[in-house]
Amino acid sequence: MATTGSSRVANEFRSDTFTTPTQSMLEAMANATMGDDVYEEDETTIKFQKEVARLTGMEDALFMLSGTMGNQIGVRVHLNQPPHSVLCDYRAHVYAEEGSGLAVLSQAMVTPIHPANGIYLTSEDVKSWVVLGDDIHTAPTKVISLEVTIGGVVTPIEEIQKISEFAHANDIKVHCDGARLWNASAATGLSLAEYCQYFDSVSMCVSKGLGAPVGGVLVTTKSNIKRARWLRKQMGGGIRQAGILTSAALVALKEVWPTMKDTHAKTKKLERDLAALGVVPQIPVDTNFFFIDARKSNIDMGILLEQCEKFNVKLMDERIALHHQISDDAIENLKAAIAEAVKITQSLPSGYVSNVKPAGYGSTSKMNEYN
Ligand SMILES: Cc1ncc(COP(=O)(O)O)c(C=O)c1O
Repeated sequence: MATTGSSRVANEFRSDTFTTPTQSMLEAMANATMGDDVYEEDETTIKFQKEVARLTGMEDALFMLSGTMGNQIGVRVHLNQPPHSVLCDYRAHVYAEEGSGLAVLSQAMVTPIHPANGIYLTSEDVKSWVVLGDDIHTAPTKVISLEVTIGGVVTPIEEIQKISEFAHANDIKVHCDGARLWNASAATGLSLAEYCQYFDSVSMCVSKGLGAPVGGVLVTTKSNIKRARWLRKQMGGGIRQAGILTSAALVALKEVWPTMKDTHAKTKKLERDLAALGVVPQIPVDTNFFFIDARKSNIDMGILLEQCEKFNVKLMDERIALHHQISDDAIENLKAAIAEAVKITQSLPSGYVSNVKPAGYGSTSKMNEYN
């Protein structure tokens, strides 16, 4: 009998990427259609892509092997010939966590912006930093890439609209790294289509909060998807019996997505319980992440990681990530570990620095440098 592996991640707060396929995903995978998707002959993959296109209100969709692949191809379909640049938040995954893909694959300069509000990009930030015109010294902005959610924070839709209108008025395309757009939609009640109307392309992940084992999906125009299919093949992402993966993704949409509200409610409850310990977040807690502000909360992160080991919960840095497979017991253990870490840190001589260092996760472990 196959096990879903959900118990192995019941205490896994490092990331929602650790989610494991559910029993019904495994069953769907075992019964998947076996058409060759390079020839566009797999019925389940076609069904998945049509369903995501319908949900997002976009013309077409293409299954991707990862969020990184969806982002890199999603941006690249908008770019032709350098010099050109991509404007994004300095913490954006597409820039900070994708192995310099924008430079290597798109030959793009990047304009990484520190949002003035310390939380999310606004149209004012964009207008301050965008590169317009044809000055031969510059690399004009051709794509603005917004990450929604970013650090678990939902950029207000009005802000997205303003950025999109400004971009389009200046012949700039807007891409969304919507790895967790599912979370934004679950948190605000706005549909995916309401978000996607402002973007020229959106890359979404199915293997994070949605819990499928592999993949993502790019939505954009039909002509962009034609090019994206070509680029995906070039990157070695043309997959044969893709139904094995897209069948799990369909189950994730149907069965896990509706549980996201509950995950967010648990994260909010955690925020309230931590506040009682004097533990505060770096940035607002809108969805499934809580970034501990270690300094303001008087927590030595090394001590906290030691306590997490003692209380049998997994954490690697300031980010606490919740997902549908986290157990209530694990949340209690995490709170106990944090309470203990606060107590121990308070008893330390001033200037003490633990030997245990948080693993960090690129730039995203510290979501807000202003804190
Ligand atoms: C916001 C965001 N975008 C894109 C990705 C890339 O996804 P993948 O790991 O599937 O390549 C991640 C991964 O964690 C992410 O957090």
